[in-house]
Formats: sequence, C-alpha cells, structure tokens
Amino acid sequence: MNRNDELKKIKDEILMLSNSPLYAYRVEHKNFPVIGEGSHDANIMFVGEAPGRNEALTGRPFCGAAGKILDELLSSVGIQRKDVYVTNIVKDRPPENRDPTPSEIELYSPFLSRQIDIIKPKVIATLGRYSMVYIMKKFDLDFEIESISAAHGKAYDAVASYGPIKIAVFYHPAAAIYNQHLKETLKKDFSILSKM
Ligand code: URA
Repeated sequence: MNRNDELKKIKDEILMLSNSPLYAYRVEHKNFPVIGEGSHDANIMFVGEAPGRNEALTGRPFCGAAGKILDELLSSVGIQRKDVYVTNIVKDRPPENRDPTPSEIELYSPFLSRQIDIIKPKVIATLGRYSMVYIMKKFDLDFEIESISAAHGKAYDAVASYGPIKIAVFYHPAAAIYNQHLKETLKKDFSILSKM
C-alpha cells in the first residue's frame, strides 16, 4: 500500500470507531472526526490535543481561532501550511472541549503512531502540554519531561522506527488567543523550526 492508501485506511477506521466514548457525541452533533491534513511527506508534523468545535464541524484540524494563530506562527518563520502535516492525538471532539481522558488518549494514539510511521516526519512539533507529555513518553524521553513553561522552545533528539528525529515543544496556540505576550513567545520559539 502507498502512503495515501495507508492514510485513507486510518480515516476509514476512525470513521467507524463506534467503540469510542466520543463516537455518540460525534453522531449526535453531526460532527466529523478530524484525522489530519497536509503534506503526506512533510518534514514537520504538528500534533495538537483534540479537535474543537470548528474542527469537528468541518473535519479539518486547527481551522478555528487557534488555527489562525498557527497560520500566523508558520508564516512568521516562512513555512507554508501545505508543506507540513497537522493532526491531533485524539481525533474526535471531546464534549464542550474538555481535556481528553487517559483512556481516550490510549484509544486514539495508535492512529497517531501509524500516521507518524507512514509520513516519517523529521520533526514532531508538539502543541500544548498533553501533546508534549504523550510524544515525549512515546519516544522514551520520560526522564526529560519538565513543565511546559520550562520546556517550550526546546528540541529533543529521539529515535523513531525509521530513524533519528527531533521533538520540538511549543505552547498550544490557543493559549495565545488573548495573550499577546505568549504569542510573541510562540513566535520566538517557532524560529527553531527554520533551523531544522
Ligand atoms: N486545538 C487542538 O488541539 N487541535 C485542533 O485541531 C484545534 C484546536
């Protein structure tokens, strides 16, 4: 199977994921699962937490207020959104945007692992604390985990199934919606991506 077919298979499986605790809410609200979007051979993969309202209504990751900030951050470092891949750990919207539960993360994370192995990014950029903790644990960096206020803007070396990668840690763009200071911090932190 080629990359497109393998990614399509993931989409089909998630569409039918009726054993998810988030499935009934998806159907009831006529929502879509949000699988991921962007280049299938991206060098950089962004991993957020879970879709919000706008994302679930459209099926597209980071298309609401947090997405506008992500676009601004990307353009500030000269990276085009079409050249990266953007996804989340959890692929369905948790009711009222509550934090995903550990069992939801456990249920959805194998899809993210497959997306990583198919796309083979050189850089995995984590957006927010949940994504940082999940990705750092996945790549055996538990011993390096610190608070996001200490870790943001740092990059860690790790080894994926297909070779060496970097894990770059960022605050979640939603945190900058009403906080200009944090947006400036995010812009500064994103500059590490242009050196990778
Ligand atoms: N927040 C996320 O973590 N992911 C999205 O797709 C949108 C908002």
